[in-house]
Amino acid sequence: MQDQERPAAFGPAHAAAYDERYAKLAPMRDALHLLISAVLADLPAEARILCVGVGTGHELIYLARKFPGWRFAAVEPSASMLDVCRRKADECGLASRCVFHEGYLESLPSSEDFDAVTSLLVSQFVLNLEARTDFFRAIARRLRPGGFLVTADLASDTTSGTYQNLLDVWLRLMRETGSPREQIEKLRGTYGRDVALLPLDVMRSLIVSGGFAPPVLFLQTVLIHAWYARRI
Ligand SMILES: C[S@@+](CC[C@H](N)C(=O)[O-])C[C@H]1O[C@@H](n2cnc3c(N)ncnc32)[C@H](O)[C@@H]1O
Repeated sequence: MQDQERPAAFGPAHAAAYDERYAKLAPMRDALHLLISAVLADLPAEARILCVGVGTGHELIYLARKFPGWRFAAVEPSASMLDVCRRKADECGLASRCVFHEGYLESLPSSEDFDAVTSLLVSQFVLNLEARTDFFRAIARRLRPGGFLVTADLASDTTSGTYQNLLDVWLRLMRETGSPREQIEKLRGTYGRDVALLPLDVMRSLIVSGGFAPPVLFLQTVLIHAWYARRI
């Protein structure tokens, strides 16, 4: 995959600071996790869940606590992010229900199909449209038919007035939740260069091209949009 160098951005310093840096955004994350648990609530009691780009493990730990019979595969290309995830899962007594894979999805050893895949704030780093379709297609290949994809990404039509308004709110949100001024200034340049915000209809068609039924947008928090879609 062409974006394999990107996780350098998620190196040791970033991993160590990640949870603290975004702690004040927890209400947004909590809403996302709560709704994901509602989307997935009717999966079997022993469901198998794949978390792609698990980072420091927020979604995995939330779902593992809520659904004690579920088992997890955590895929993460950044060794330092995955180390934090593994340590937290261990501290919460969840590690025995998890397999941790350092690398990309492509190198995850094959296994029984998963019931659901989460990919939260990950596909936005795959800049090329074809590569992003391939990213969703690779997820579809790991799912059972009818299995769920849940993806959340920064998304917007960046040529629109709505985007400019949402970006202003987003940057104020970063300011109000304690991000340093230089970091906030950098964000304007980052979007479009290291992070690809796509219009919602483009996201929808990439997910469908990846092998899914039309996705359902179930949450928007400023620029973050969350969809679920079922594998065809
Ligand atoms: C913004 S973090 C989100 C982490 C976690 N999902 C969360 O919601 O807190 C994005 C993570 O995706 C990982 N990542 C980036 N590109 C990836 C890719 N192509 N495949 C899998 N993971 C990727 C990064 O290393 C990073 O840990």
